[in-house]
Amino acid sequence: MTEERVPADYTGMDLVVAKHFDEKVRENFMPAIISTVKQIREDYGVFEGVCVDIGCGTAVFAIELCRPSSRLKIYALEKENAIYEVARKNIEKERLTERIIPVLGDAHKLPFEGDFADFIISRGSYHCWEDKVRVFKEIYRVLKKGGTGFVGGGFGRYVTEEEANRMKALRDHSLKEDAKAYSSPDKLREVINKAGISKSDFRVSYDRAGLWAEIRK
Ligand SMILES: C[S@@+](CC[C@H](N)C(=O)[O-])C[C@H]1O[C@@H](n2cnc3c(N)ncnc32)[C@H](O)[C@@H]1O
Repeated sequence: MTEERVPADYTGMDLVVAKHFDEKVRENFMPAIISTVKQIREDYGVFEGVCVDIGCGTAVFAIELCRPSSRLKIYALEKENAIYEVARKNIEKERLTERIIPVLGDAHKLPFEGDFADFIISRGSYHCWEDKVRVFKEIYRVLKKGGTGFVGGGFGRYVTEEEANRMKALRDHSLKEDAKAYSSPDKLREVINKAGISKSDFRVSYDRAGLWAEIRK
């Protein structure tokens, strides 16, 4: 079992720890981010329109999603001040300020009007949400008609088995009890049902790509 940990107590994190969190994510989880972005682009053809990334962390995922030949405008939403600050700097460093808008805000009360986003992504934030039903209601509200949400956690289908095992061990060690959220598909289905999203508008998958809910509006 790995001794290494990635900081996972996000609440009240200071800037030093937030920078360390950013380094650790890049060092350890880049294969998962690249793999999940590739999967999303293949499955949903997300190249333009408005995207919201909920719980964006230091925006590493949003930056990857926005890279080759995409015209997406991404609103990268993060609740923690210090992590938001690092995200803002990362977006600036990558010269993507026209394409990625950092937003300080809470998933439980998304600061967007209804029917705003063509695509909503949230990777690795679900385990943190105190009121998961409320967040799914918010996601559905903010999605445009015809839009898609992809919410959950995992490493995407393009990581090797060796990479997946290494990242899973590190994630489980870092998140402790909270990691169970990503191996509980029935719980995820129950939450989405309680949010009032009709069965025909969502699908939960639990496979080598991780645990994901796909929501269509
Ligand atoms: C494990 S990180 C995932 C970061 C990024 N999505 C990725 O895939 O690398 C989870 C992030 O969700 C944020 N978060 C947790 N609860 C949130 C909430 N209610 N609203 C917005 N962000 C939240 C945390 O502060 C943290 O930065």
